Amino acid sequence: MSSALPVFPWDTLADARALAQAHPDGIVDLSVGTPVDPTPQVLQDALIAAANAPGYPQVWGTADLREAIAAWFARRRSASGVDPDGVLPVVGSKEFVAWLPTLLGLGPGDAVGFPELAYPTYDVGARIAGATPRPAASLLQYGPSAPKLLWINSPANPHGQVLGLDHLKKVVAWARQRGVIVASDECYAELDWRDDPDGPTTPSILDDRVCGGSHNGLLAVYSLSKQSNLAGYRAAFVAGDTDLVHRLVQVRKHAGMIVPWPVQRVIKAAVQDDAHVAAQKAIYADRREELKSALLQANWHIDYSEAGLYLWATQGKPCRESVADLAALGILAAPGDFYGAAGAHHVRIALTATDERISAAAKRLIS
Ligand SMILES: Cc1ncc(COP(=O)(O)O)c(C=O)c1O
Repeated sequence: MSSALPVFPWDTLADARALAQAHPDGIVDLSVGTPVDPTPQVLQDALIAAANAPGYPQVWGTADLREAIAAWFARRRSASGVDPDGVLPVVGSKEFVAWLPTLLGLGPGDAVGFPELAYPTYDVGARIAGATPRPAASLLQYGPSAPKLLWINSPANPHGQVLGLDHLKKVVAWARQRGVIVASDECYAELDWRDDPDGPTTPSILDDRVCGGSHNGLLAVYSLSKQSNLAGYRAAFVAGDTDLVHRLVQVRKHAGMIVPWPVQRVIKAAVQDDAHVAAQKAIYADRREELKSALLQANWHIDYSEAGLYLWATQGKPCRESVADLAALGILAAPGDFYGAAGAHHVRIALTATDERISAAAKRLIS
């Protein structure tokens, strides 16, 4: 199995990391999207309150948790039709992305589609199942042979593009005509930097205006790692087609894929509290402004980056050269080729560093 998987890409950044670490004022590591601010107190309190957990938790999650998630979709995502029966907590969304093709029973001869520039785990999930990874720049590229499962990701990692309501509607119509399951990875939805006419967050695949009120063949995957500084808790959930979710629950029961009880309680607290999400978003907005303006002053060009935790930046030269230029300033960024060949001239610069480190990076870029 491991031979079928790609080389873990971060291993190829060792030289750039060593160079950045040699900077007299220390490295500013903007290569990964790992949150650095404290887990909000309201969520730490929920964890502590649930510390007594001698029994096995429910794989499917308790009814009150699933109802709270359904209410969050209605309140924050304009998705009023989420049935609590079609909700499932998962052990972080990476786990779900990596195992969904397998849990759906896909295997050799089946294809899994995903964007040509994408979070690498969509590809990994296809390979784990023994299915064929089919990256594509547009749905037209699939021609007559549609994949069984299609991943979309909006706002996108790495480049922060947002898919609007019309685009999502077309994806749903295309998939329904062909019997394709659509899994929509939406973990940056609360971190939308546009003045958005579509609503408070980036549109969901389950938005009433997108899916026409039916969740058939649709799954939305949502992680609390980014918006709630919960990456260390492994807290995420899936919602949508109740039949699909029931199938997933059955396999996950057999496989012991269970979100720990204290984390289930934290997920409930997180989806019921909008204040901590707004506060964290304001912190990222300031960091983004400072870094973006420094990059522009230093003659970088920024594409997309409408939402999410990254700036997708280019100097118009090969990404590994730009990574080396930044490393010489003590800044570590992720080369765009980590995410597909189409990223070969961009770097992904994360906003996930302290205010102090972001300011250090901004100063180095413009001095
Ligand atoms: C697009 C996307 N999906 C999923 C994940 C995984 O998030 P987690 O496993 O922390 O829920 C990430 C993390 O960076 C991501 O960028």
